[in-house]
Amino acid sequence: MTERHIRWDPGQYLRYRDERQRPFWELLARIPTVDVRNVVDLGCGTGAGTAELSRRWPGAEVVGIDLSDEMLAKASASEQPAGVRSEDVSSHAGPRKEPGREGSVRFVRADIASWTPEPSSLDVIFSNAALHWIPGHARRFGSWVEGLRRGGVLAFQVPGNFDAPSHTLLSDLATSAEWRHRFATRDPANQVHRPSDYYNLLRQVAEDVDIWETTYYHPLSGDDPVFEWVSATALRPYVEALNRDEALSFAESYRESLRVAYPREASGETMFPFRRIFAVATRAR
Ligand SMILES: C[S@@+](CC[C@H](N)C(=O)[O-])C[C@H]1O[C@@H](n2cnc3c(N)ncnc32)[C@H](O)[C@@H]1O
Repeated sequence: MTERHIRWDPGQYLRYRDERQRPFWELLARIPTVDVRNVVDLGCGTGAGTAELSRRWPGAEVVGIDLSDEMLAKASASEQPAGVRSEDVSSHAGPRKEPGREGSVRFVRADIASWTPEPSSLDVIFSNAALHWIPGHARRFGSWVEGLRRGGVLAFQVPGNFDAPSHTLLSDLATSAEWRHRFATRDPANQVHRPSDYYNLLRQVAEDVDIWETTYYHPLSGDDPVFEWVSATALRPYVEALNRDEALSFAESYRESLRVAYPREASGETMFPFRRIFAVATRAR
């Protein structure tokens, strides 16, 4: 455990880039819209996926939205396929594309929880591995779908692994006699609904809804790879609530329990099953 585990760290997050990007591609492959002019990437992180969205729709204006200065700094510094700009807005990112203009990518600092698109202004609202950080995100579906043009698509992927040892061990530790006085909430990251609930919620506002789930089996190499993976995401809110020494101690206990739950296989790798939930909702034409 080092201090790099304590903040949103783009380097740590990108360590398992291939594994984290696979659901991105599988989600993108299911978006049927062809004529795309305006795209928003909610919780764009390092912007790697935002750049891919721009490559997929080269003529579109693509806006990546995130709240983390570290992630946005990385996003703006990364090689992007078109002109890249960063800006700071409180809650709104509407389209700016003029007819006939080249595609572009820009990054905006905004809170997804209060972000509201202009009605009928977007073709794709995309979000990979971000909405589980947003309490009540499903209550936003109505205004997001209203922000789509006819035939536009809201597509997102969220982890569905909150019952897995990687997460139950974390919340068990946080609620143990030793630590519970230090945490106000039990499981800050678990805002995810069941697939059937997503279907019913989205079906109220969209004409066509496609929901599926996949469990990936990631064979990870190195020492404590599940800890390394989770330290970039689910562990972060816990260590942020602690001072440095407490954070190191808390993380060390968590790391030890993960070693037992995720032993090394005969190959020397550690198998990390990871369930993910996908949704693609299309506004009526
Ligand atoms: C796990 S990362 C996913 C990044 C990227 N979509 C990807 O596929 O690699 C989640 C991102 O959501 C962002 N995020 C979390 N809560 C947010 C909020 N309320 N508003 C905007 N971004 C948020 C985080 O800063 C982080 O960059």
